[in-house]
Amino acid sequence: MKNSVLINHQLKPFNKKILVGGDKSISIRWALTASQAIGVSKAYNLLESNDVKSTLNSLKKLGIKIFKKKKYYLIHGNGLNGFNYKKNITLDAGNSGTLARLILGLLVKSKKKISLIGDKSLTRRDFSRVIDPLNSFGLNIKSKNGKLPLEFVGNDYLTPINYIEKIGSAQCKSCVMYAALNTPGLTRIKAKKSRDHTEILFKHLKIPIKIKKTKNFDLIEIRGLHSYSGFEYRIPSDISSSSFFIVLTLLSKNSKLIIKNVNINDTRTGIIKILKKMNAKIKYKNIRKEMGEKISDIHIKSSKNYKSINCPTYYNSQAIDEFLIIFLFAAKAKGVSYFKNLGELNQKESPRLKIAYKFLKMIGVKIIEKKNTIKIFGNPNLKLSGKYVIENFFKDHRVFMMSVIAALTLGGRWIIKDKDSINSSFPDFISKIKSLGAKIS
Ligand code: S3P
Repeated sequence: MKNSVLINHQLKPFNKKILVGGDKSISIRWALTASQAIGVSKAYNLLESNDVKSTLNSLKKLGIKIFKKKKYYLIHGNGLNGFNYKKNITLDAGNSGTLARLILGLLVKSKKKISLIGDKSLTRRDFSRVIDPLNSFGLNIKSKNGKLPLEFVGNDYLTPINYIEKIGSAQCKSCVMYAALNTPGLTRIKAKKSRDHTEILFKHLKIPIKIKKTKNFDLIEIRGLHSYSGFEYRIPSDISSSSFFIVLTLLSKNSKLIIKNVNINDTRTGIIKILKKMNAKIKYKNIRKEMGEKISDIHIKSSKNYKSINCPTYYNSQAIDEFLIIFLFAAKAKGVSYFKNLGELNQKESPRLKIAYKFLKMIGVKIIEKKNTIKIFGNPNLKLSGKYVIENFFKDHRVFMMSVIAALTLGGRWIIKDKDSINSSFPDFISKIKSLGAKIS
């Protein structure tokens, strides 16, 4: 069947070293930030996935010159708001919430009308969370019920805002940070903790930014209209892509894996902290810092006797993209695991909390979902022998990859549809899995 994978075999023990693709969040931020620099920026290891391609295509439509060389990408920035397009345009963010939300912040001074659209999955997601703060800067964004498509023209007379970001969304925070870059005066943000790649990049470029960290919130001040020059960047590997291989190794018998050069920024490593609390054997080796980001090789060793977790909610934003695969791991751990306050998962590429519930139930895991809390009754002896068909998941790349890991570690005969979903974040996923010895057709 075209665009489906068939899996009828569990993965045999392996001992390998792999490299996964560049970090998606950082790749998108590099491109957007480079488009506002004066002069040429260069990036090695840019992720070549659809979300990043949509970013480059949107910037090209805005008149930014971008070149792909053998080992790197070049972006020719024209400074802040240096976009150059003649008539009204439509930007297509495809499947990418990060692109759609972050680029809006860069377009606050656009001269001609811009429409922003996305695919079916993106069109069901909430944009009022960025429309509201952007309108406070002085925009007048039109939308139907706070969803795509959006339409707007920029404003030359923007005023800085005081913004409170309560969800713990890096996309909302970063959207406002990019708008602040184009706005005179001081924008103040009080943001619930979330990934801080934009802050690290701004600091690296010496954009005037002050950050004060408190227990649950970061207080950020940005002085706008500061220009910066083109810059070079080496993008580390993505921990979210790595997470599928981490759990695959942990749930396989007698296996070991090293994943090289992974970004282990503390705001992204919730999965490692959670899995370690559940007795997983994971080690960082060769830790170093590049461009303000922490990078390491991750060594993983499978073992037995994984235990359940009552997951502290302060890990929620640090592991926000990894919960599907964490739930699968919890299904094989001894005892009852609790994950609380996870309503945000239903705002992702698919309603992930609902989908996880249906998925785990289908494979015979006892699970209770109530008011955005999920309770998983783990069973270390969980083994499958039936036939499982995975479909209708809004082409969510992470649902697809989690299903493949379940098939390779639990047994049974699987048909997993919409293989092309992996192109959003991890086009090489299947070939990397095969390099560990997996039989997939
Ligand atoms: C991202 C932030 C997260 C995450 C998404 C990438 C980013 O979304 O789920 O995959 O790059 O800023 P929210 O900030 O909306 O939680």
